[in-house]
Amino acid sequence: MADRKTQKLLEGLQSDLEREIRGMLQYTYQSSMILGVGSLSISPYLRVEAAAELKHVAFLCDQIVALSGNPKLTSSKFSETRDIKTMLENDLDAERESILEYRERVKQADSAGEVGLKLRLEELIAEETDHMRQLERILRGWQ
Ligand SMILES: [Fe+2]
Ligand SMILES: [Fe+2]
Repeated sequence: MADRKTQKLLEGLQSDLEREIRGMLQYTYQSSMILGVGSLSISPYLRVEAAAELKHVAFLCDQIVALSGNPKLTSSKFSETRDIKTMLENDLDAERESILEYRERVKQADSAGEVGLKLRLEELIAEETDHMRQLERILRGWQ
């Protein structure tokens, strides 16, 4: 049985996993649903984001197993809006949420003595920050 700090970390990683699965599904769904001229640029961009989130899903699964946990691949619901700007705003909210959650996970990994995992989680924060900045840039120039 994992100690209390590792147990807390595992619970956090499991909730990260669910959020990443939701993100991956949300980006995939959106990239298919966009119609019109926006589909030329935004659909491929969202498909790339979905692939990035899939990597995060696999990373978290591996980490949960490494800590002797049992990853559950479930997802909460996401918005099925057809409005492109609303889609991107929802994506931005999700990326911001990820960054906040991973900041917490870094602290938990540190206090559980998982220094390597802490570093990987910091890399994840850097990637999610790139996603966030890209979305901010797109939304800032929205006509
Ligand atoms: Fe992610
Ligand atoms: Fe992301």
